[in-house]
Amino acid sequence: MPELAAPSALRFEHHPAGRPVLGLGTATPRLSWQVTAAPDDYSQARYELAVTRGNTTENHAVGGGEQILVAWPGAPLTARESVSVRVRVGDATTWSEWSEPAVAEAGLLNTSDWTARFVSPRDIAGLEAPAPIVSGAIDLPGEVVQARLYATAHGLYVARINGERVGDEQLAPGWTAYRHRLRYQTHDVTALLHEGHNDLEILLGNGWFRGRLGFQGRRAIYGDRIAALAQLEVTLADGSTHVLNTDGEWTARESRIVADDLYNGQRTDLTRAEGEPTPVDVLDADLSLLVAPDGPPVRITEVVPAQSVTTSPSGKTLVDFGQNVVGWVRLKVRNAGQITVRHAEVLEDGELGVRPLRTADATDTWIVGEEATLEPELTFHGFRYAEVTGVDDLATEDIEAVVVGSDLRRTGWFDSDHELLNKFHDNVVWGMRGNFVDVPTDCPQRDERLGWTGDIQVFSPTASFLFDTAGFLGSWLADLAAEQYKDGSVPYVIPDVIRRPGPATAAWGDAATIVPWVIYQRTGDRDLLERQLPSMRLWVDKMAALAGQNLLWAGGFQFGDWLDPTAPPADPFRAKADPDVIATAHLARSAEVVALAAEVAGDADTTREYAELAAKVRDAFAREYVTPDGRVLSDAATTYALALQWALLPDAEQRRHAGDRLADLVRTAGFRISTGFVGTPLMTDALTDAGYPELAYRLLLQTGCPSWLYPVTMGATTVWERWDSMLPDGSINPGEMTSFNHYALGAVADWLHRRVAGLAPGAPGYQLIEVRPLPGRALTRAAARHLTPYGEAEVAWQREGGELQLDLTVPVGATAVVTLPGQDQTIEVRHGRHHWTLPDPYAQEEQPAAEPSIRQLMDHQPSWDRIVSAAAEAGVAADEAALADRLKPFLDAPATQIVDAATADGFIPGADRFRTLLENA
Ligand code: BGC
Repeated sequence: MPELAAPSALRFEHHPAGRPVLGLGTATPRLSWQVTAAPDDYSQARYELAVTRGNTTENHAVGGGEQILVAWPGAPLTARESVSVRVRVGDATTWSEWSEPAVAEAGLLNTSDWTARFVSPRDIAGLEAPAPIVSGAIDLPGEVVQARLYATAHGLYVARINGERVGDEQLAPGWTAYRHRLRYQTHDVTALLHEGHNDLEILLGNGWFRGRLGFQGRRAIYGDRIAALAQLEVTLADGSTHVLNTDGEWTARESRIVADDLYNGQRTDLTRAEGEPTPVDVLDADLSLLVAPDGPPVRITEVVPAQSVTTSPSGKTLVDFGQNVVGWVRLKVRNAGQITVRHAEVLEDGELGVRPLRTADATDTWIVGEEATLEPELTFHGFRYAEVTGVDDLATEDIEAVVVGSDLRRTGWFDSDHELLNKFHDNVVWGMRGNFVDVPTDCPQRDERLGWTGDIQVFSPTASFLFDTAGFLGSWLADLAAEQYKDGSVPYVIPDVIRRPGPATAAWGDAATIVPWVIYQRTGDRDLLERQLPSMRLWVDKMAALAGQNLLWAGGFQFGDWLDPTAPPADPFRAKADPDVIATAHLARSAEVVALAAEVAGDADTTREYAELAAKVRDAFAREYVTPDGRVLSDAATTYALALQWALLPDAEQRRHAGDRLADLVRTAGFRISTGFVGTPLMTDALTDAGYPELAYRLLLQTGCPSWLYPVTMGATTVWERWDSMLPDGSINPGEMTSFNHYALGAVADWLHRRVAGLAPGAPGYQLIEVRPLPGRALTRAAARHLTPYGEAEVAWQREGGELQLDLTVPVGATAVVTLPGQDQTIEVRHGRHHWTLPDPYAQEEQPAAEPSIRQLMDHQPSWDRIVSAAAEAGVAADEAALADRLKPFLDAPATQIVDAATADGFIPGADRFRTLLENA
């Protein structure tokens, strides 16, 4: 039996374990830890925290089993205070060893801790002018023992001390709702300073603050002056402290970066001399908006080498990095002259496909006089290909792609024996990496890159599995609450740069309720949920007000089931699913979520109020949109999926009927996806829960267009915005919006984790793990692994030799409820490794039904595949989708009539040939 291990991975709030946290933003940080091994019968009954502050250590013994986000035990920290914490845990009889210490240092917790002021160049650094460098200096009369730089900017900043870059953060200070919250960073700069004269220089860029932002072409949304705020605090060996503040004494000069913009790129003239020092102005900016980061900064997370350098049909030099990434190009050049690097996600006719970038130039240019390594600092691009001009004899080893993104800790993995599916999952991960660039964005490449609420609403479950997103999304939710209108309307994008008054649209606004609920489920962060509760309520109140007396939210502006594949490329608003049905369904769902959240917060009145509202909305929904038998308006897959998954169908018979109808819609669409942003994340769950898991698998593994795997067959390395961002003939979808890096449709990965592999949260923070694997005939194995707050959990199944092997790992502190495939009762198991051997439910070949109907024939995939190819060969129907569409009215007819059914609408010349082919098959 394993012994009780000392706790590990002790951490403050959502900051990563294992390295000191600098600039902690709260005086009472919550603590979490893991225990990697314990005796089988171990349950934590108590813990003890040893908190060392200065020379004293205080011990706090606490009874209970909590180990995730436990309350800070002592007096609140003061600004700059450093603290070291250790923990040990025990059951009633034994204590573990003490953990390694975890160290944190508080940031500038109060506005009054700031003595520096924002400074902005007075005479230079206009909107069209070169990026400025502001600088100050400090003389230090002794040996430096500790130094901290607290800094931020209006715009982007890169600080250098004595010529050395400070820290490894990119695109700092990141993007928040600047009118309400501006992040500052805390850097340990002890090693960069020395006795005597020291220079601090800060390069400023336009960034989100003053550059182009949004598709309306606006600039300077937050202000027309870029500015720096820096407070350098140094402690010398003699104990004295010395501070360098940005103030009126600082100077500003022009850098060699002559233009910089996130969308357009950076222009740099390395042959140009930097400007002469000019004065700065001290700005009267509100320092109470400053906040410390909750999540990790943007960093360089990987460097991808070039795969090939080739010449395009028109003679351009093209570099392929083999992966659609977000970041920039690093390039070694040996010749002088002008060098231009253009970026694109795809090629069209062998040339850079830049139309999807719309008005973003995405071009970096350089004027160089000598050998140099070039790499921009004040921009980023979304690209797989680069077109390089002006470099002599460019070789693959001279150029690489630098990948940037929020440096989130990876926490989730999925694997199976299906290569395309694994590649798809990889693409989901890459899509997330490219779109978690401080803000959860829709896309990273065109003139948009905004925090679209609907996109993260549907993707947050997947995101929370793949990476530790609690700090990142918690910060974004604080922005959402800050920018929510007083009447409850939620801006379409957060940070809100569209600023349309009274924005309220279903599925997008519901980010206010659903994202906090998802984070709570996945991390157990109850404080965050309680903090968001007023915002959640307000959004539901807004929807309820829009719905009015009858509780049906109808009319008004809606995005609806955005990018339903049957909507015309130029008009994504024309989805099959009625937007009113979607809107009322969301009102019911969000009211329910508020009731649940209020229950967690211990607010019984609010729970009752919103549970009642949810119930009434469900009744209204059923009355208006559902027939007594269970047909749901507008008879679209999305509306069935919503109604089924969100308990909008009052009786079991209706639910059964709706499930059957959804299954038929899948069949008659030729087992291809037919939903947009709203329905897609729910489809596979809805089919599975309705008793059609094999149809969910058919949808999942479909490769025809539209489907999840179609882009993979087209060489995609990220998830696309549209099911057919690239058309089967290799041309780019003619629609205005055609990104090749949008995470929303990748939201099905959550189903892969929770159901295909079978690793789902059963109680907040995975304290209870719901293990319910769903083996399918099409896969021989699947596995999901997740670093839960308690530690590593894994579920893996494999079908082989007539048996199904199931392996499960449960971390200490968590329990798993296991539903074995093919069995109804559940088994509860505790921490440790568990194994089951069961009969393989798919050991036998799938048998077609005796005297099948056309529907049953379609469900028998081997038969259906034969029929589809016969129909194609005979010229009856080009593909599965076309054939299924013809068969739509005949699903109940005997399969023997399939030829007549498929050719019923006219004189299809191939009918006889089709019959012959089928007879011989
Ligand atoms: C974005 C989407 C977003 C949508 C609103 C688009 O331009 O790229 O992902 O949700 O607008 O419907």
